Amino acid sequence: GAPVEFDVSQVEPGQLIVVEWRGKPVWVTHRTPEMLDMLPENRPRLVDPDSEVETQQPAYAQNETRSRKPEYSVLIGICTHLGCSPSYRPEIAPSDLGENWKGGYFCACHGSRFDLAGRVWRNVPAPTNLVVPVHMYVSDTLLVVG
Ligand code: FES
Repeated sequence: GAPVEFDVSQVEPGQLIVVEWRGKPVWVTHRTPEMLDMLPENRPRLVDPDSEVETQQPAYAQNETRSRKPEYSVLIGICTHLGCSPSYRPEIAPSDLGENWKGGYFCACHGSRFDLAGRVWRNVPAPTNLVVPVHMYVSDTLLVVG
């Protein structure tokens, strides 16, 4: 499939917009400073906090935010368990979706939780972090996926 272009400046802080690429949903999420601040707190509860499983992201997304630009997350919105589409649950306050859960992506099919970098929580069915697709920015705000 052809690469797809998307202007990330249209994504409001805290918002997620779905872009289709090769028939797959690609989530572009604009993370606020508060959302980014809590990523390090999740580390002890994550399976792969440093994104060491190489199949799940390009090398340029092997960092704390799993992104090229910290404020913009680009993820394939397909659960790494059995392929359901998780829902965006960006609330910061703990909720009933799991101990110490601080928001992120929740897969209702079998209860997998991911943080706002797409990193999988421990003790859920999904084995790996969500996939970061190949992507780049051709200007400050023009994203190309693929
Ligand atoms: Fe997402 Fe099973 S498909 S938890």
